[in-house]
Amino acid sequence: MKQEMKVDVLLGLQWGDEGKGKIVDVFTPKYDIIARFQGGPNAGHTLEFDNQKHVLHTIPSGIFHPQTLNLIGNGVIIDLKIFDDEIQKLRAKGARPEQNLYISKKSHLILPTHRMLDAAYEQAKGNAKIGSTLKGIGPTYTDKTARLGLRIGDILKPTFTEKYQQLKDNHLQILKQYNFDLSAQTIDGLSFEAYEQKWMDAAQSMKKHNLVDSEIFINEQLKAGKSVLAEGAQGTLLDVDFGSYPFVTSSNTVSAAVCTGLGVSPKSIGKIYGVFKAYCTRVGSGPFPTELNDAVGQELRDKGHEYGSTTGRPRRCGWLDLPALRYSIMINGVTDLIITKADVMDEFDQIQVCTHYKLGDTVLQYMPYEIVDEAVEPIWTNHSGWKTNLSSTRSLDQLPKAFCDYLKYIEDQVECPISVVSVGPDRTQTMLREA
Ligand code: GDP
Ligand code: IMO
Ligand code: MG
Repeated sequence: MKQEMKVDVLLGLQWGDEGKGKIVDVFTPKYDIIARFQGGPNAGHTLEFDNQKHVLHTIPSGIFHPQTLNLIGNGVIIDLKIFDDEIQKLRAKGARPEQNLYISKKSHLILPTHRMLDAAYEQAKGNAKIGSTLKGIGPTYTDKTARLGLRIGDILKPTFTEKYQQLKDNHLQILKQYNFDLSAQTIDGLSFEAYEQKWMDAAQSMKKHNLVDSEIFINEQLKAGKSVLAEGAQGTLLDVDFGSYPFVTSSNTVSAAVCTGLGVSPKSIGKIYGVFKAYCTRVGSGPFPTELNDAVGQELRDKGHEYGSTTGRPRRCGWLDLPALRYSIMINGVTDLIITKADVMDEFDQIQVCTHYKLGDTVLQYMPYEIVDEAVEPIWTNHSGWKTNLSSTRSLDQLPKAFCDYLKYIEDQVECPISVVSVGPDRTQTMLREA
C-alpha cells in the first residue's frame, strides 16, 4: 500500500488579493491535484506567464497544467453563467477543462436572484454597506445554512426547473419586501431575464463536466499516493468567524475550512502556506488600522496596480500590520510564509511596519474583537528601504541586505519562517527559500 498523502494548504493572511493565484500556479508542478474549498466568484486570482495574464474566479489556479487535476470542492459556490464564461475563455486559451476539472455535486448554486438579494441587502444598508462584490455570496451561503439551497447535483434531476422556480419565488417575495424592482436591474450588463436564460443554458453545459462525489474522489486519490494543494480564496481577515465581522465574506476562509470544504479529515492536513503582501490592501468597507489615506497610499496603489481583479475597484492601501499577521498565522497554524509584492516598495526610502496596537492603555499583539467599533492606535517601527530593483532578482544571494534584514525582522516578530519570496507578477519572479 502506498503511503497516504497529505493535503497542503495555501491561503491568504490579510484581506484577500495577496497573490494566491500566482503562487498556486508556481507550486502546481509539485502537486497532482489543486482544489478550491470555499468562496465563489467573489475571488479573482491572477496568473501571469509567457507574457499573458489570466484571471480565474471559480476554477482552481492549476488549470493551465494539463497533467494536474483541478477540483472544485463542496464548500465552493458556483454561478453557472460566470463558470461557463470562464470555461469558454480557458478553452480559447488552450486549456482543456473537460479533461482536468472535477466538480463536487454538493457545491451550492448561486441563482440570479441571489445576486439580486445581495444588491438589495447592500442598498438597504446604505452607508453601513459591506462593499460586497455583488456576486450573490452572502445570500447563497445563507440559503445553504438555512437548508434551502440548490446544488450542482440538482441540475441532473428532472425536478431541477421546479426546484429552481420554488427558490426563485421565495427570493422574489423577499425582494418585494425590499421594494426591489427586478425590471430596473442589470446583472453584468444583461437584463435579469437575459442573465437567467444564459444561466439556464449554462446548467445544460455543466452536465458535460466531471461531476463527482468529490470527498470520495479526493480521499481515494490521497490513498493512491496523489498529492493535493488546497487553494484558499479571500483572506483570513475576511473569514466569517475571525474577520472584522460584519465586514467579512460569508464563508470560513481559514485552514480549518479545508476539512469541511473538501471532505478531508484534520489528520490529512500537511503544510500550511500563508501568503501575505509586504504591505496591506483591502477592497470594500471595514476597519483597516494601518490604512494610508495619503500620497504614500496612492503610491502603493499605483505601483502595485491595486485595483480589484474581480470588480476593478481601487483597493485601499496601508503599511504591513503585524498584529493582524500574527493573528492569521495563529488561526491557520501557518507552517510557511510567502511574501509577495515587496518589489512595489523598491523605491521607498523608509518602510513602516505596525508592530502592535494600542487600545486605551493596553498594548496588543493580536487583532482584537474591538477592532470593528473602536479605533486602535498602531505602534510603528521604521525600516530603511532597500532602494534596489527586486523584480529582476532571481536568486536569494542577489537580494540586498536591507531587504534580507526586513525579512528576518518579520520572521522574528511573527515566529514563522518565510519560505517563498515573490518579486513580481510573473511565474519566474519567485524565489524559494525552503530546503
Ligand atoms: P489573489 O486573489 O490572492 O490571487 O491575488 P490577485 O490576483 O487578486 O491580486 C494580486 C495582484 O498582484 C495580481 O495582479 C498579481 O499579478 C500581482 N502579483 C502577485 N505577486 C506579485 C509580486 O510579487 N509583485 C508584484 N508586483 N505583483 C504581484
Ligand atoms: P480573492 O480570492 C479581496 C471582499 C469584498 C467585500 C467583502 C464581502 O481574490 O482574494 P462578498 O462578495 O464576499 O460578499 O464581499 O469581501 N472580498 C474580497 N476582497 N479579495 C477577494 O477574493 C475577495 N472576496 C471578497 O470586497 O469587502
Ligand atoms: Mg484576488
